[in-house]
Amino acid sequence: MKNKINEIKKRALEEIGKAKTFEAVEALRVKYSGRKSELTNVLRGLKDLSPKERKEIGELSNHTKQIIESELDKKELKIKNEELSHIDKKEKIDVTYPGKKTAKGHLHPLTQVRYAIEAIFKSMGFLVVEDREVEDEFHNFDAMNMPRNHPARDMQDTFWLKNGCVPRTHTSSVQARFMEKNKPPFRIISLGRVYRNENTDATHESNFHQTEGLIVDKSGKVTVANAKSIISEFMKGLFGESTKIRLRPSYFPFVEPGFEFDASCPYCKGEGCRICKKTGWIELGGAGMVNQNVFTSVGFNEDKYEGFAFGFGIERLAMIKYGIDDIRLFHAGDLRFLQQF
Ligand code: DAH
Repeated sequence: MKNKINEIKKRALEEIGKAKTFEAVEALRVKYSGRKSELTNVLRGLKDLSPKERKEIGELSNHTKQIIESELDKKELKIKNEELSHIDKKEKIDVTYPGKKTAKGHLHPLTQVRYAIEAIFKSMGFLVVEDREVEDEFHNFDAMNMPRNHPARDMQDTFWLKNGCVPRTHTSSVQARFMEKNKPPFRIISLGRVYRNENTDATHESNFHQTEGLIVDKSGKVTVANAKSIISEFMKGLFGESTKIRLRPSYFPFVEPGFEFDASCPYCKGEGCRICKKTGWIELGGAGMVNQNVFTSVGFNEDKYEGFAFGFGIERLAMIKYGIDDIRLFHAGDLRFLQQF
């Protein structure tokens, strides 16, 4: 039995000496020191020995077991230390290595133009105000001097809601809302969504954005000349210093006299090109001196105040600024389009 035990010890120490990995050490631990190890097997025969031999063999086997276990522990520690000594190479981090760039989003082209419009008007002392998109008939139409059955209502194809309200057809409704709560003098612009019940094509959308402007002061203090210079400053701010504007007489129920205003084409500088359809001018919006009926509808005394108003589409400005030829691109959510801005 002694020989058997010594033989096991010799073999165990040899094999432990050769083991190179944790897994190998673990397997040897099972083989030589576990409950089903060879040593345990040998000790099964202990009961057949004399008490003296039993003591002797018992001591020898315990001692052997201790030696084997301590060798296993030593080997395990050695392997661990070796691994740790290489860890700096294996898990090396180069803190100077440039990081991966995460793609940054950016503002939608319409929002960019919207902010540009706001910045220009703010620099001229305008207050930016907002109001509701679903309007009642009074603020969208009646207060804007478009009573029921007025032919001018046909100028704007309208979505009617069951409760008699409308998704506003223009931002002019904000004029009425603002004047109900504020007394002149003031100068405001209001930007936002408007809705028209019309078929969509390259230049028409049923949902688009407008900017409305309104300046009101005591009678005699606001003139068409003021209007012209403010619109002109705005266009220069957006399209460049050399931009010229012109007013053409036109009709809108909420102004008298009314105009449409054009800017000189920023592409051909008035020479005539594809963008301006060879005319040298680009039609941008409507304007005029506020009709006194609008003032009386919000409770102002007739002839006490004078003012002018203007309105234009934001998509149209963005299309001209960036040379975009289809209005539908703005809401199509196509990244190939959006990433260009
Ligand atoms: N509300 C008009 C439209 O949607 C635009 C407009 C024209 C606004 C003339 C004005 C104006 O304030 O004076 O077509």
